[in-house]
Amino acid sequence: MTTVLDVQRFKDEGRRFAMLTAYDFLSAKILDEAGIPVLLVGDSLGMVMLGHPTTLPATMDDMLHHAKAVARGARQALLVGDMPFMSYQVSTEQAIANAGRFIQEAGMHAVKLEGGGPVIEISRRLSEIGIPVMGHLGLTPQSVHTMGGFKVQGKTEAQAARILADAKALQDAGAFSIVLEGVPSQLAARVTNALRIPTIGIGAGPATDAQVLVLHDMLGLTTGKAAKFVKRYANLAEEITRAATSYADDIRDGKFPGPEHEYSANGSAPASPPVKQVGEEVKYGG
Ligand code: KIV
Repeated sequence: MTTVLDVQRFKDEGRRFAMLTAYDFLSAKILDEAGIPVLLVGDSLGMVMLGHPTTLPATMDDMLHHAKAVARGARQALLVGDMPFMSYQVSTEQAIANAGRFIQEAGMHAVKLEGGGPVIEISRRLSEIGIPVMGHLGLTPQSVHTMGGFKVQGKTEAQAARILADAKALQDAGAFSIVLEGVPSQLAARVTNALRIPTIGIGAGPATDAQVLVLHDMLGLTTGKAAKFVKRYANLAEEITRAATSYADDIRDGKFPGPEHEYSANGSAPASPPVKQVGEEVKYGG
């Protein structure tokens, strides 16, 4: 199983690695079996799974529901639960209680928190009590209203210096890795070179120690114009449309179900190829 020590070793050995988001049992199982070493149950699920315009409405209940499913599907990956908006900002006690739920109830191995400033002290406390923390700096979607939109951060020297200082402070507070989102590549390189712990980039150029994408973006399940940093490795929205229309067409044309999909009462096959007989296991998903 991948641990926080492994991801540190990846950085020490100069091995770049992948992280992907996962929100459900089957995708977690597939990604885990594909050897993706780190799976993030991101609060992006508020957008891609639940249809909200931002990540802000995602709740602890939403996150735990999906995190539990991911933990049932994955065997090898390091599982990171994303602390949703207002699950850690109120007090350190609140942060500890909610982070603890990710570990104890949902089977996550670590949690991710957005931002520097007060979040650094919270990260220190979580690390001290044995909950590994992944930081998240730059474009932090939970601060969308403060940023005035989903905008690249760290373009001015003052902003860049702040992000670098927060990254170092998070490392000193015990964070085992930091996501750098939506920052200029030069800044991501500066932060990556300054840190002992791995950086994980999204829209942060090629210099980070690892990369992360939202699964639905990279599979082409999200449609329309993708953000500049997204690379689509498949076009599943098109594939699903094609499959769904073929299915509907087959039903209309009487082509589905065919004889091979039928059961018979007396065991005699109504047609070839062979049918599933009564008594045979009947279940979904396989
Ligand atoms: O919520 C999320 O999916 C994330 C990643 C994009 C880093 O925070």
